[in-house]
Amino acid sequence: MSQHPPASEAAQAASTHDADTPNLDFAGTTPYEDYVQADVLTHLQHPLSDDPGEMVFLVTTQVMELWFTVIVHEWQTAAGALRRDDLPVAMAALKRSTYELQSLNASWQPLAHLTPVQFNSYRGALGEGSGFQSAMYRRLEFLLGEKSASMLVPHRGAPRVHAELEKALHEPSLYDEVLRFLARRGHAVPAAVLDRDATLRYEPDPAVEEVWQRIYAGSQEDELVRLGEALTEVAELVWRWRNDHLVATRRAMGAKTGTGGSPGVSWLEKRARHNVFPELWTARSHV
Ligand code: HEM
Repeated sequence: MSQHPPASEAAQAASTHDADTPNLDFAGTTPYEDYVQADVLTHLQHPLSDDPGEMVFLVTTQVMELWFTVIVHEWQTAAGALRRDDLPVAMAALKRSTYELQSLNASWQPLAHLTPVQFNSYRGALGEGSGFQSAMYRRLEFLLGEKSASMLVPHRGAPRVHAELEKALHEPSLYDEVLRFLARRGHAVPAAVLDRDATLRYEPDPAVEEVWQRIYAGSQEDELVRLGEALTEVAELVWRWRNDHLVATRRAMGAKTGTGGSPGVSWLEKRARHNVFPELWTARSHV
Protein backbone atom coordinates (compact mmCIF):
# COMPACT_ATOMS: atom_id res chain seq x y z
CA MET A 1 0.00 0.00 0.00
CA SER A 2 1.17 3.54 -0.73
CA GLN A 3 2.44 5.53 2.21
CA HIS A 4 1.58 9.14 2.92
CA PRO A 5 4.10 11.32 1.03
CA PRO A 6 6.64 13.19 3.14
CA ALA A 7 5.26 16.59 4.20
CA SER A 8 7.67 18.56 1.96
CA GLU A 9 6.72 16.49 -1.09
CA ALA A 10 3.02 17.05 -0.43
CA ALA A 11 3.56 20.77 0.08
CA GLN A 12 5.55 20.96 -3.16
CA ALA A 13 2.81 19.04 -5.01
CA ALA A 14 0.17 21.42 -3.70
CA SER A 15 2.17 24.53 -4.59
CA THR A 16 3.05 23.37 -8.12
CA HIS A 17 -0.42 22.03 -8.88
CA ASP A 18 -2.01 23.91 -11.74
CA ALA A 19 -5.71 23.84 -12.45
CA ASP A 20 -5.24 22.15 -15.86
CA THR A 21 -3.55 18.99 -14.52
CA PRO A 22 -5.05 16.14 -12.52
CA ASN A 23 -4.85 16.22 -8.72
CA LEU A 24 -1.56 15.06 -7.24
CA ASP A 25 -2.26 15.46 -3.57
CA PHE A 26 -4.17 12.78 -1.66
CA ALA A 27 -4.21 12.27 2.06
CA GLY A 28 -3.95 8.48 1.84
CA THR A 29 -3.79 6.07 -1.09
CA THR A 30 -5.25 7.41 -4.36
CA PRO A 31 -8.97 6.97 -5.06
CA TYR A 32 -7.86 4.92 -8.12
CA GLU A 33 -5.96 2.54 -5.86
CA ASP A 34 -8.86 2.34 -3.41
CA TYR A 35 -11.17 1.26 -6.24
CA VAL A 36 -8.92 -0.87 -8.48
CA GLN A 37 -6.52 -2.27 -5.87
CA ALA A 38 -3.85 -2.20 -8.56
CA ASP A 39 -1.12 -2.50 -5.95
CA VAL A 40 -2.60 -5.83 -4.81
CA LEU A 41 -3.28 -6.99 -8.36
CA THR A 42 0.22 -6.23 -9.69
CA HIS A 43 1.95 -7.96 -6.79
CA LEU A 44 0.22 -11.31 -7.24
CA GLN A 45 2.79 -12.55 -9.78
CA HIS A 46 5.18 -15.09 -8.28
CA PRO A 47 6.87 -17.09 -11.06
CA LEU A 48 8.20 -20.50 -10.02
CA SER A 49 11.20 -20.63 -12.40
CA ASP A 50 13.92 -18.25 -13.58
CA ASP A 51 12.65 -18.43 -17.13
CA PRO A 52 11.71 -14.94 -18.42
CA GLY A 53 8.87 -16.47 -20.49
CA GLU A 54 7.02 -17.75 -17.42
CA MET A 55 5.73 -14.27 -16.47
CA VAL A 56 3.43 -14.00 -19.49
CA PHE A 57 2.19 -17.57 -18.93
CA LEU A 58 1.26 -16.70 -15.35
CA VAL A 59 -0.29 -13.31 -16.17
CA THR A 60 -2.27 -14.67 -19.13
CA THR A 61 -3.68 -17.33 -16.81
CA GLN A 62 -4.57 -14.67 -14.23
CA VAL A 63 -6.13 -12.45 -16.91
CA MET A 64 -8.25 -15.39 -18.08
CA GLU A 65 -9.34 -16.07 -14.48
CA LEU A 66 -10.55 -12.45 -14.29
CA TRP A 67 -12.49 -12.80 -17.56
CA PHE A 68 -14.01 -16.09 -16.30
CA THR A 69 -15.13 -14.15 -13.21
CA VAL A 70 -16.79 -11.38 -15.26
CA ILE A 71 -18.47 -13.87 -17.62
CA VAL A 72 -19.81 -15.95 -14.71
CA HIS A 73 -21.23 -12.70 -13.30
CA GLU A 74 -22.93 -11.86 -16.63
CA TRP A 75 -24.45 -15.32 -17.02
CA GLN A 76 -25.70 -15.28 -13.42
CA THR A 77 -27.27 -11.88 -14.18
CA ALA A 78 -28.85 -13.32 -17.35
CA ALA A 79 -30.13 -16.44 -15.53
CA GLY A 80 -31.63 -14.32 -12.72
CA ALA A 81 -33.30 -11.96 -15.21
CA LEU A 82 -34.83 -14.86 -17.17
CA ARG A 83 -36.18 -16.27 -13.89
CA ARG A 84 -38.00 -12.91 -13.47
CA ASP A 85 -39.10 -12.92 -17.14
CA ASP A 86 -36.97 -9.82 -17.72
CA LEU A 87 -35.69 -10.55 -21.22
CA PRO A 88 -34.09 -7.12 -21.94
CA VAL A 89 -31.81 -7.38 -18.86
CA ALA A 90 -30.91 -10.98 -19.80
CA MET A 91 -30.14 -9.98 -23.41
CA ALA A 92 -27.94 -7.07 -22.31
CA ALA A 93 -25.90 -9.37 -20.02
CA LEU A 94 -25.55 -12.03 -22.75
CA LYS A 95 -24.44 -9.37 -25.26
CA ARG A 96 -21.83 -8.01 -22.84
CA SER A 97 -20.60 -11.55 -22.26
CA THR A 98 -19.99 -12.05 -25.99
CA TYR A 99 -17.68 -9.01 -26.06
CA GLU A 100 -15.94 -10.32 -22.94
CA LEU A 101 -15.56 -13.77 -24.49
CA GLN A 102 -13.91 -12.13 -27.51
CA SER A 103 -11.42 -10.39 -25.20
CA LEU A 104 -10.86 -13.65 -23.32
CA ASN A 105 -10.16 -15.45 -26.57
CA ALA A 106 -7.84 -12.68 -27.81
CA SER A 107 -5.71 -13.20 -24.70
CA TRP A 108 -4.52 -16.55 -26.11
CA GLN A 109 -2.15 -14.63 -28.43
CA PRO A 110 0.92 -14.52 -26.14
CA LEU A 111 0.68 -18.30 -25.51
CA ALA A 112 -0.44 -19.43 -28.95
CA HIS A 113 3.06 -19.79 -30.43
CA LEU A 114 5.10 -21.53 -27.73
CA THR A 115 7.64 -24.10 -28.91
CA PRO A 116 8.09 -27.24 -26.77
CA VAL A 117 11.51 -25.99 -25.62
CA GLN A 118 10.07 -22.63 -24.53
CA PHE A 119 7.22 -24.33 -22.62
CA ASN A 120 9.59 -26.92 -21.11
CA SER A 121 11.64 -24.05 -19.60
CA TYR A 122 9.02 -23.60 -16.88
CA ARG A 123 6.66 -26.58 -17.30
CA GLY A 124 8.51 -28.64 -14.68
CA ALA A 125 8.09 -25.85 -12.13
CA LEU A 126 4.28 -26.08 -12.48
CA GLY A 127 4.35 -29.52 -10.85
CA GLU A 128 0.82 -30.95 -10.91
CA GLY A 129 -0.73 -27.48 -11.39
CA SER A 130 -3.21 -27.37 -14.29
CA GLY A 131 -6.01 -25.10 -15.53
CA PHE A 132 -8.18 -28.17 -15.01
CA GLN A 133 -8.15 -27.15 -11.33
CA SER A 134 -9.63 -23.68 -12.12
CA ALA A 135 -12.76 -23.36 -9.97
CA MET A 136 -13.99 -20.27 -11.85
CA TYR A 137 -13.75 -22.10 -15.18
CA ARG A 138 -15.75 -24.93 -13.59
CA ARG A 139 -18.47 -22.47 -12.55
CA LEU A 140 -18.55 -21.20 -16.11
CA GLU A 141 -19.01 -24.76 -17.42
CA PHE A 142 -21.67 -25.46 -14.76
CA LEU A 143 -23.63 -22.40 -15.96
CA LEU A 144 -23.55 -23.84 -19.48
CA GLY A 145 -25.08 -27.09 -18.17
CA GLU A 146 -21.81 -29.06 -18.08
CA LYS A 147 -22.39 -30.19 -14.45
CA SER A 148 -20.36 -32.83 -12.65
CA ALA A 149 -20.19 -33.46 -8.91
CA SER A 150 -16.74 -35.05 -9.28
CA MET A 151 -15.33 -31.67 -10.35
CA LEU A 152 -15.76 -30.52 -6.72
CA VAL A 153 -13.30 -33.14 -5.46
CA PRO A 154 -10.07 -31.20 -6.24
CA HIS A 155 -11.39 -28.28 -4.14
CA ARG A 156 -12.07 -30.17 -0.87
CA GLY A 157 -9.12 -28.40 0.73
CA ALA A 158 -10.43 -24.87 -0.03
CA PRO A 159 -13.71 -24.37 1.90
CA ARG A 160 -14.84 -21.09 0.25
CA VAL A 161 -14.14 -22.30 -3.28
CA HIS A 162 -15.77 -25.66 -2.53
CA ALA A 163 -18.90 -24.02 -1.07
CA GLU A 164 -19.27 -21.70 -4.08
CA LEU A 165 -18.89 -24.61 -6.49
CA GLU A 166 -21.33 -26.77 -4.54
CA LYS A 167 -23.92 -23.98 -4.67
CA ALA A 168 -23.32 -23.59 -8.42
CA LEU A 169 -23.70 -27.36 -8.89
CA HIS A 170 -27.17 -27.33 -7.30
CA GLU A 171 -28.43 -24.15 -8.99
CA PRO A 172 -30.20 -24.34 -12.36
CA SER A 173 -27.80 -23.55 -15.20
CA LEU A 174 -28.27 -20.59 -17.55
CA TYR A 175 -29.69 -23.04 -20.13
CA ASP A 176 -32.11 -24.51 -17.55
CA GLU A 177 -33.41 -20.96 -16.95
CA VAL A 178 -33.71 -20.38 -20.72
CA LEU A 179 -35.81 -23.55 -21.12
CA ARG A 180 -38.05 -22.66 -18.15
CA PHE A 181 -38.52 -19.20 -19.66
CA LEU A 182 -39.50 -20.74 -23.03
CA ALA A 183 -41.99 -23.00 -21.24
CA ARG A 184 -43.59 -19.96 -19.54
CA ARG A 185 -43.86 -18.39 -23.00
CA GLY A 186 -46.01 -21.37 -24.04
CA HIS A 187 -43.40 -23.61 -25.67
CA ALA A 188 -43.67 -27.38 -25.18
CA VAL A 189 -40.58 -28.04 -23.08
CA PRO A 190 -41.14 -31.46 -21.45
CA ALA A 191 -41.75 -31.58 -17.68
CA ALA A 192 -38.85 -34.04 -17.35
CA VAL A 193 -36.50 -31.35 -18.72
CA LEU A 194 -38.00 -28.59 -16.55
CA ASP A 195 -37.78 -30.69 -13.39
CA ARG A 196 -34.47 -32.36 -14.20
CA ASP A 197 -31.83 -32.92 -11.52
CA ALA A 198 -29.80 -29.70 -11.86
CA THR A 199 -26.66 -31.36 -10.51
CA LEU A 200 -26.38 -33.59 -13.61
CA ARG A 201 -24.94 -32.71 -17.00
CA TYR A 202 -27.64 -31.43 -19.38
CA GLU A 203 -28.48 -34.06 -22.01
CA PRO A 204 -30.02 -33.00 -25.34
CA ASP A 205 -33.75 -33.67 -25.72
CA PRO A 206 -35.63 -34.11 -29.05
CA ALA A 207 -38.63 -32.09 -27.79
CA VAL A 208 -36.35 -29.14 -26.94
CA GLU A 209 -34.85 -29.40 -30.42
CA GLU A 210 -38.41 -29.12 -31.80
CA VAL A 211 -39.04 -26.02 -29.66
CA TRP A 212 -35.99 -24.26 -31.13
CA GLN A 213 -36.90 -25.51 -34.62
CA ARG A 214 -40.34 -23.90 -34.33
CA ILE A 215 -38.92 -20.65 -32.94
CA TYR A 216 -36.29 -20.43 -35.70
CA ALA A 217 -38.78 -21.24 -38.47
CA GLY A 218 -41.00 -18.33 -37.36
CA SER A 219 -40.57 -14.58 -37.68
CA GLN A 220 -36.89 -13.59 -37.67
CA GLU A 221 -37.91 -10.48 -35.72
CA ASP A 222 -39.16 -12.61 -32.80
CA GLU A 223 -37.31 -11.81 -29.60
CA LEU A 224 -36.92 -15.55 -28.97
CA VAL A 225 -34.94 -15.88 -32.22
CA ARG A 226 -32.73 -13.06 -30.92
CA LEU A 227 -32.35 -14.93 -27.61
CA GLY A 228 -31.44 -18.10 -29.53
CA GLU A 229 -28.85 -16.19 -31.56
CA ALA A 230 -27.31 -14.55 -28.46
CA LEU A 231 -26.94 -18.02 -26.90
CA THR A 232 -25.53 -19.42 -30.14
CA GLU A 233 -22.94 -16.61 -30.15
CA VAL A 234 -21.98 -17.51 -26.57
CA ALA A 235 -21.76 -21.20 -27.50
CA GLU A 236 -19.55 -20.50 -30.52
CA LEU A 237 -17.17 -18.27 -28.54
CA VAL A 238 -16.83 -20.89 -25.77
CA TRP A 239 -16.11 -23.50 -28.45
CA ARG A 240 -13.45 -21.15 -29.88
CA TRP A 241 -11.83 -20.79 -26.43
CA ARG A 242 -11.66 -24.57 -26.09
CA ASN A 243 -10.21 -24.94 -29.58
CA ASP A 244 -7.63 -22.14 -29.18
CA HIS A 245 -6.59 -23.84 -25.92
CA LEU A 246 -6.35 -27.17 -27.72
CA VAL A 247 -4.18 -25.79 -30.55
CA ALA A 248 -1.93 -23.82 -28.15
CA THR A 249 -1.48 -27.05 -26.15
CA ARG A 250 -0.70 -29.10 -29.25
CA ARG A 251 1.96 -26.54 -30.29
CA ALA A 252 3.51 -26.31 -26.81
CA MET A 253 3.63 -29.98 -25.82
CA GLY A 254 2.43 -32.28 -28.64
CA ALA A 255 0.92 -35.52 -27.30
CA LYS A 256 2.63 -35.51 -23.88
CA THR A 257 0.52 -36.11 -20.78
CA GLY A 258 -0.82 -32.98 -19.02
CA THR A 259 0.55 -31.57 -15.77
CA GLY A 260 -2.93 -32.28 -14.33
CA GLY A 261 -2.54 -36.00 -15.13
CA SER A 262 -4.80 -36.30 -18.19
CA PRO A 263 -3.64 -37.80 -21.52
CA GLY A 264 -3.35 -34.14 -22.67
CA VAL A 265 -4.40 -33.17 -26.21
CA SER A 266 -6.60 -36.26 -26.80
CA TRP A 267 -8.53 -35.45 -23.57
CA LEU A 268 -8.92 -31.80 -24.58
CA GLU A 269 -10.18 -32.87 -28.02
CA LYS A 270 -12.97 -34.84 -26.35
CA ARG A 271 -13.87 -31.87 -24.14
CA ALA A 272 -13.94 -29.51 -27.13
CA ARG A 273 -16.43 -31.79 -28.89
CA HIS A 274 -19.13 -31.24 -26.21
CA ASN A 275 -21.73 -28.98 -27.82
CA VAL A 276 -22.78 -25.97 -25.76
CA PHE A 277 -26.61 -25.56 -25.82
CA PRO A 278 -26.81 -28.67 -28.07
CA GLU A 279 -30.32 -28.31 -29.51
CA LEU A 280 -29.56 -24.80 -30.76
CA TRP A 281 -27.15 -26.48 -33.18
CA THR A 282 -29.09 -29.60 -34.13
CA ALA A 283 -32.41 -27.73 -34.66
CA ARG A 284 -30.80 -25.89 -37.57
CA SER A 285 -30.84 -29.06 -39.70
CA HIS A 286 -34.65 -29.03 -39.65
CA VAL A 287 -35.46 -25.37 -40.31
C1 HEM B 1 0.14 -23.24 -23.70
C2 HEM B 1 -0.22 -23.29 -22.45
C3 HEM B 1 -1.14 -24.36 -21.94
C4 HEM B 1 -1.03 -25.72 -22.04
C5 HEM B 1 0.09 -26.51 -22.72
C6 HEM B 1 -2.19 -26.30 -21.38
C7 HEM B 1 -2.44 -27.66 -21.26
C8 HEM B 1 -3.55 -28.22 -20.69
C9 HEM B 1 -3.82 -29.63 -20.58
C10 HEM B 1 -2.91 -30.74 -21.10
C11 HEM B 1 -5.00 -29.78 -19.97
C12 HEM B 1 -5.71 -31.11 -19.61
C13 HEM B 1 -5.64 -31.37 -18.12
C14 HEM B 1 -4.24 -31.74 -17.67
O1 HEM B 1 -3.89 -32.92 -17.74
O2 HEM B 1 -3.49 -30.82 -17.25
C15 HEM B 1 -5.51 -28.47 -19.68
C16 HEM B 1 -6.73 -28.20 -19.08
C17 HEM B 1 -7.20 -26.94 -18.84
N1 HEM B 1 -6.52 -25.75 -19.02
FE1 HEM B 1 -4.77 -25.51 -19.98
N2 HEM B 1 -2.97 -25.29 -20.91
C18 HEM B 1 -2.38 -24.09 -21.22
C19 HEM B 1 -2.82 -22.84 -20.90
C20 HEM B 1 -3.97 -22.57 -20.18
C21 HEM B 1 -4.38 -21.27 -19.76
C22 HEM B 1 -3.64 -19.95 -19.99
C23 HEM B 1 -5.56 -21.42 -19.10
C24 HEM B 1 -6.34 -20.30 -18.47
C25 HEM B 1 -6.86 -20.40 -17.28
C26 HEM B 1 -5.88 -22.82 -19.12
C27 HEM B 1 -7.02 -23.40 -18.59
C28 HEM B 1 -7.33 -24.73 -18.63
C29 HEM B 1 -8.60 -25.27 -18.18
C30 HEM B 1 -9.79 -24.48 -17.66
C31 HEM B 1 -8.53 -26.64 -18.34
C32 HEM B 1 -9.65 -27.65 -18.06
C33 HEM B 1 -10.53 -27.78 -19.30
C34 HEM B 1 -11.74 -28.66 -19.09
O3 HEM B 1 -12.08 -28.98 -17.97
O4 HEM B 1 -12.39 -29.00 -20.10
N3 HEM B 1 -4.90 -23.49 -19.78
N4 HEM B 1 -4.61 -27.53 -20.13
